[in-house]
Amino acid sequence: MPGYLGGVSLPSVRPMHAFDDQTQHLADAILAYVTERMRLDPVPLDRARSAEVLAEQAGTTITPGGIGGSRALQLFDEVLSTACLSVDHPRYLSFIPAAPTEASMLFDLVVGASSIYGGSWMEGAGAIHAENDALRWLADLAGFPAGAGGTFVQGGTLGNLSALVAAREDARRRPGIDPRQRWTLICGEEAHSSVVQAARVLDADLRVVPADDQGRMTGAALAAVLAEHGTEDVCAVVATGGTTQFGTIDDLAGVGEACRSAGVWMHVDGAYGLAGLAAPSVRHHFDGIELADSFIVDPHKWLFAPFDACALIYRDPRKARAAHEQRAGYLEVLELDDLDDGVFNPSDVAIHLSRRARGLPFWFSLATHGTDAYAQAVEHGIALARQVATEIEADERFELLRDPELSIVVFQRRGWSAQDHHAWSKRLLDDGLAFVMPTVHRGETLARLAIVNPRTSIEDLRQVLATM
Ligand SMILES: Cc1ncc(COP(=O)(O)O)c(C=O)c1O
Repeated sequence: MPGYLGGVSLPSVRPMHAFDDQTQHLADAILAYVTERMRLDPVPLDRARSAEVLAEQAGTTITPGGIGGSRALQLFDEVLSTACLSVDHPRYLSFIPAAPTEASMLFDLVVGASSIYGGSWMEGAGAIHAENDALRWLADLAGFPAGAGGTFVQGGTLGNLSALVAAREDARRRPGIDPRQRWTLICGEEAHSSVVQAARVLDADLRVVPADDQGRMTGAALAAVLAEHGTEDVCAVVATGGTTQFGTIDDLAGVGEACRSAGVWMHVDGAYGLAGLAAPSVRHHFDGIELADSFIVDPHKWLFAPFDACALIYRDPRKARAAHEQRAGYLEVLELDDLDDGVFNPSDVAIHLSRRARGLPFWFSLATHGTDAYAQAVEHGIALARQVATEIEADERFELLRDPELSIVVFQRRGWSAQDHHAWSKRLLDDGLAFVMPTVHRGETLARLAIVNPRTSIEDLRQVLATM
């Protein structure tokens, strides 16, 4: 994406106080640090150090009189930051990386400096309006109706849990149901661990639908489970729009139809993969998402925003409000009656009250660059995954596990044990070359490349493969 920020000028007529010398120095130093860090190419990969080593290197940081901003910044620069991996390094290919745009990183500073309370419309209307614009883009990509909406929560784990709490509350209101009954959640075999965790938090049973040979939950398999299990105690089905392990997309159309005919809430966990809604080459894989009652997608994963932001969107936010609105005497003044205007408090639709307007960096970047740039940047990851998968398949050292559907490539170095894969991965990090953690699938240790960074090139990936 181009790094261009048009001609912004802030009004200078407002009354201001002067910074004292120290604060002025700190402001200059922090802005210099931030711009320098963003211009490093590549950013250093860095690596964790033990708590003991860090304690020794950092020394005492919290003191009665303070160590001063300059010293604290110096410590961060020289000691602390160098013990944190740069998730936006082009050869950080583990887990799900992040690759925030410069615009989004810079605007994160603005959000921090603006003291916005993002929980209520009364306090954060302007910020929430902008966040809602960004949510609307996502809702439109998914084919959700005009009344759809939600908020940004901290991450996919909290987004999934919040949606499933809303689903259970909705199920509790079904006619003739004992609201205190035990509930069941249904998900596919390759659903994310946060869905298992959500079931634990909800104290719900979890029923797993066997996957097809590509790891997908299909509508037919789900319908069979629903027919056998019954639907009375099922409060939600969680489909995955891009699994973490492989980027596999469940049969959303089939799952949606099965949920509709069973009268069960359909939630789509697209924390990583639903960014693919923006990419024309794979959009059709998500057909059926429009049938969902809720979905999540994390801009801090593949939508080029800084940590931490998960977009949580409901078909009907009133249902979320019924589950999540906190009531207290001191909060009554914030209550809004009219959801039909599309206006509601973000704190009313998820598990949170105080909230950073964490969707703003994503909104700012989207507004700055435009949605076409997002489509191109997501397509980059998809094209690269396809290209490297083709090269892996053609190389007799490797076995490709599945054709990538999105931007994750999983393969095995023939003849390597789990230990070999781990030793290789450690060596790459020790050498500062790349961060490529092995993964385990069905008991086998495999290599896995997760590509979301527009700065990652085929040469980066070839460099990694050459070390195997
Ligand atoms: C499919 C999926 N769902 C949920 C999550 C959890 O998201 P978070 O780490 O933001 O809580 C992840 C994280 O990688 C994920 O890939």
